[in-house]
Amino acid sequence: MDITYKTNLYCLIGDPVEKSLSPVIHNYSFEKNDIDGVYLNFKIEKNCIRDFVDTVRTLNIKGFNVTIPHKVDIIKYLDKVDEKAKKLGAVNTVKNENGKLIGYNTDGLGYLKMLKEKNVTIDGSKILVIGAGGASRGIIFSLLEERPEKLLILNRTLSKAENIKNELNIEKNITKIETDTLDNKNRDLREYDLVINCTAIGMYPNIEEVPIEIDRLSKKAVITDIIYKPLETKLLKEAKNRGNKVIGGIGMLINQGLLSEEIWTEKDIESTEIINYIKEKIVSD
Ligand code: ATR
Repeated sequence: MDITYKTNLYCLIGDPVEKSLSPVIHNYSFEKNDIDGVYLNFKIEKNCIRDFVDTVRTLNIKGFNVTIPHKVDIIKYLDKVDEKAKKLGAVNTVKNENGKLIGYNTDGLGYLKMLKEKNVTIDGSKILVIGAGGASRGIIFSLLEERPEKLLILNRTLSKAENIKNELNIEKNITKIETDTLDNKNRDLREYDLVINCTAIGMYPNIEEVPIEIDRLSKKAVITDIIYKPLETKLLKEAKNRGNKVIGGIGMLINQGLLSEEIWTEKDIESTEIINYIKEKIVSD
């Protein structure tokens, strides 16, 4: 695509950002979806966030993504924050609407979109979430909107799972939420229909690790992982070999990015071709 005087600038801010796939995803999508934009990564240190926000207005940067360590700090510099991002207390997407900066959070929604694309039903289901960090919170928050029957959060540090439960269950009493430690081997997990690994266990280079023994899970469960490097974690390989339906993390990552793009451009973005392209890139890197 030609860059002209009309081309809009979008970017990611964080520290570190060197390994981020976001520019690859967005620049490819801009080309495929006829969006006159270019997307760059900017390494912004913690004490430079205010300067960056001034620059967004000065240069009329149309939108940006926010990653670690700025997802919480950015909020105080924005003109408005959408309800979901407010409840989560974190923003990963900002839109510049004629100089007004509006914050959103698409974490978790990308995961939900991926499940819908794979025809996985959440309404009335029993869900097991492994992990209680930032990724887990976003996903749990989005899942609860779809009214599962029951949700169990397993985490190495129990207090972090309990914190999520206490924060997010205030007005969502349709779903029964429980917590437990990851190493409580006496807990029967065979009733869960959907399992999500939200920890980094099994991520490159520790590809021989699994967050949970596969024998503890139902053979009928859909097993998913937010890790995308490797595209298929050991947990997913073990599950697939037993006949479970499995879904890896790459679709979630890409959908999350494309949801930001939909916010910025108010266009529906087609994802299938982009997912295939990025998968090939990851394998060849
Ligand atoms: P993210 O933003 O990716 O969710 P995070 O907030 O650092 O990252 O959360 C990491 C999650 O992986 C946590 O649930 C963490 O467990 P603790 O809360 O007990 O720290 C989990 N995790 C990471 N490494 C782990 C390991 N080796 N064993 C068990 N859990 C691990």
